[in-house]
Amino acid sequence: MDYPFAERRKRMQSSLIRELLKLASRPGVLSLAGGVPAAELFPMEEIQRATAKVLQRYGAKALQYSPTEGLRPLRAWIAARLGVEADWVLITSGSQQAIDLVGRVFIDEGDPVVVESPTYMGGLLALNPYAPRYLTVETDAQGAKPEALPEKAKLAYILPSFQNPTGALMDAPRRRAVAQWAERANAVVLEDDPYGHIYFDAPPPPPIFTHARTRVIYAGTFSKLIAPGLRLGYVVANPEILAAIIQAKQASDLHSNILGQVILAELIDMGLMEVQAERVRSLYRRRRDRMTEALRAHLDPEVAFDVPRGGMFFWLRFPDGTDTRALLDLALESGVAFVPGEPFFAQTPYPAARLTFASVAEDQIEEGIRRLARAYERYKTRTLA
Ligand SMILES: Cc1ncc(COP(=O)(O)O)c(C=O)c1O
Repeated sequence: MDYPFAERRKRMQSSLIRELLKLASRPGVLSLAGGVPAAELFPMEEIQRATAKVLQRYGAKALQYSPTEGLRPLRAWIAARLGVEADWVLITSGSQQAIDLVGRVFIDEGDPVVVESPTYMGGLLALNPYAPRYLTVETDAQGAKPEALPEKAKLAYILPSFQNPTGALMDAPRRRAVAQWAERANAVVLEDDPYGHIYFDAPPPPPIFTHARTRVIYAGTFSKLIAPGLRLGYVVANPEILAAIIQAKQASDLHSNILGQVILAELIDMGLMEVQAERVRSLYRRRRDRMTEALRAHLDPEVAFDVPRGGMFFWLRFPDGTDTRALLDLALESGVAFVPGEPFFAQTPYPAARLTFASVAEDQIEEGIRRLARAYERYKTRTLA
């Protein structure tokens, strides 16, 4: 039908990952494609106990409309971790909503917006409808290179800790340099940090936010630590910026899931957060190690990768000219799925693939990598033939 959609509709896409997950869920396919947390880590029992308790304590209030800003004790807990007051915090429907709301209040059509190359695909999906003019900043194992930032921009979307998709970790000098750049360029930085607490050796350096509290909007989430189905994340920003984001949220969905918020506050009271963070780190660390060994043992050494020091992903860089979509077809035939790198780039892509280790059982990781390595050998034989 010829429905009268808005122009904006043309700039909306569905996530390739969601499409891929359908392929990856075919029987016999071992998926290294998803970006989902390990379901066996969800704290089921604790959530059950907390739910019973809060329904008793809060009664109908736990199910009633509630303030847009979010539950005060939850906001206070988040604020304390970043050294600010509770009124700097807004509870959002996942950090995905935070990206959308920041785009809504800061981006007019054609505005210069810096994104890392590559960056989180879902971030691009959220920002695209606002029609920014993307300026890309090159990255390496320490993340975005501050010297590659443009002279002027309105907004920069930066993922400093165990980036999705590259796993890169930005060091402290770079974090300071990004904060200084924001002052110079009169820009605002959206610091998206869902993986900072999933570190395998040392915690990451302090957030960019701590270096420029008036210039940086910090976004976090409970998705990777507790469960993504709660759809609870947060934005931390100075009250002037936050007021704008709160208004945008009010118009969008009034407030985030309040039952989930009271449950989370209860889980915090129960002292679960640190215990749970350690559970996540130790499982993912084991899986990361397994994948490192398997990649070293089986994959053609011309495929480059860095070993991530946290987060959920490996990022494989293939020789120039490799068609990773064609490789994916062969990989699926071999019984393994991954995400081709292309949709993580706002502009010029290079051949790459994202693999997750987070949600793959240890005894399947080596087999997955073997299949991938075999698919790559077949790909090379075919293209050379
Ligand atoms: C970098 C990044 N930002 C944001 C999100 C969105 O997470 P959520 O909306 O569940 O908080 C994700 C999820 O994978 C992510 O990887």
